[in-house]
Amino acid sequence: MRILLTGGAGFIGSHLCDRLLADGHRVVVVDNLVTGQMSNLVHLAGRDDFLFLKSDVSNFIFVPGEVDAVLHFASPASPNPRSPFGYPALPIPTLKVGALGTHHTLGVAHSRGARYLLASTSEIYGDPQVHPQDETYVGHVDPIGPRSVYDEAKRFAEAITMAYHRFHGVDTRIARIFNTYGPRMRADDGRAVPNFITQALAGQALTVYGTGAQTRSFCYIDDLIDGLVRLLAAEGPGVHEPVNLGNPNEMTVLALAERINALTGNRSPIRYEAAESDDPQQRQPDIARARALLGWSPSTDLDAGLRRTVDSFRPRA
Ligand SMILES: NC(=O)c1ccc[n+]([C@@H]2O[C@H](COP(=O)([O-])OP(=O)(O)OC[C@H]3O[C@@H](n4cnc5c(N)ncnc54)[C@H](O)[C@@H]3O)[C@@H](O)[C@H]2O)c1
Repeated sequence: MRILLTGGAGFIGSHLCDRLLADGHRVVVVDNLVTGQMSNLVHLAGRDDFLFLKSDVSNFIFVPGEVDAVLHFASPASPNPRSPFGYPALPIPTLKVGALGTHHTLGVAHSRGARYLLASTSEIYGDPQVHPQDETYVGHVDPIGPRSVYDEAKRFAEAITMAYHRFHGVDTRIARIFNTYGPRMRADDGRAVPNFITQALAGQALTVYGTGAQTRSFCYIDDLIDGLVRLLAAEGPGVHEPVNLGNPNEMTVLALAERINALTGNRSPIRYEAAESDDPQQRQPDIARARALLGWSPSTDLDAGLRRTVDSFRPRA
């Protein structure tokens, strides 16, 4: 296939790009580098099965030639209000790429008869009152809260994706991605894993917001990519419904910090700072649908994934 991948210079997009090329596809990445980095793609320069176009998908998309699949991964993704690369610092671009960018990418899929996959998020569940979250849960989201620019943009993205499927018959897929980590995350985008690893490698105190009792479920990037590729290829009943992709192994943020200190040999104490407002207290995917539909479940153990991530961060410290 010739695949259009938006957000391909980002963390998940660049790993997806590598996998699609390894599987024999041709890939066109469109990215405006608002949070992504060319260093994530530089190893692909000069390949004739790979094309990079620097462009903002919220404005328009022009991709010459055939397109068999469109994968929409463009969006800021870090919730950290202290980072210039988090969506709180990029509220309008985040709303636009979730709304206009999704509309434009669906337009490409519709006009070319291409399959479509949307990178949605567990954030569409908001601060969930149901635990773990399965795909039938409709969520608990504040439409005007600090996270709303991301959460509501993604909820709109899901709605318009289903509308293009139901009304125009576009062959769509929706992946609800839960917290994912691994090499190529920005050290400075403020997400928990790169933040903790950067601090630990510098021998600094790890910053935990709130008590650290809030839980997350961390999925290693290779497992997520495997789930995404399976979802793109899946056929038959149920493939147009949203599918949770994440690791059900839930842990507290404090336990994650302690694990990273142990793996890096950092002896500095944990430093507690004021809790983020709107920070979800619990996050754990129910992946029964992904197991049944895709035969997928994550297999990378947390320590193994963290070790690989720590090693990839070492040269930067
Ligand atoms: N990493 C996670 O844990 C996670 C969890 C849930 C959902 N997601 C979703 O997966 C996707 C990728 O996330 P990520 O973690 O790789 O983030 P990232 O910031 O590393 O990558 C996003 C990429 O999109 C690009 N981009 C943003 N706006 C754009 C625009 N208007 N036009 C063109 N390119 C644009 C950025 O430059 C960047 O390269 C996002 O849609 C995000 O919402 C990620």
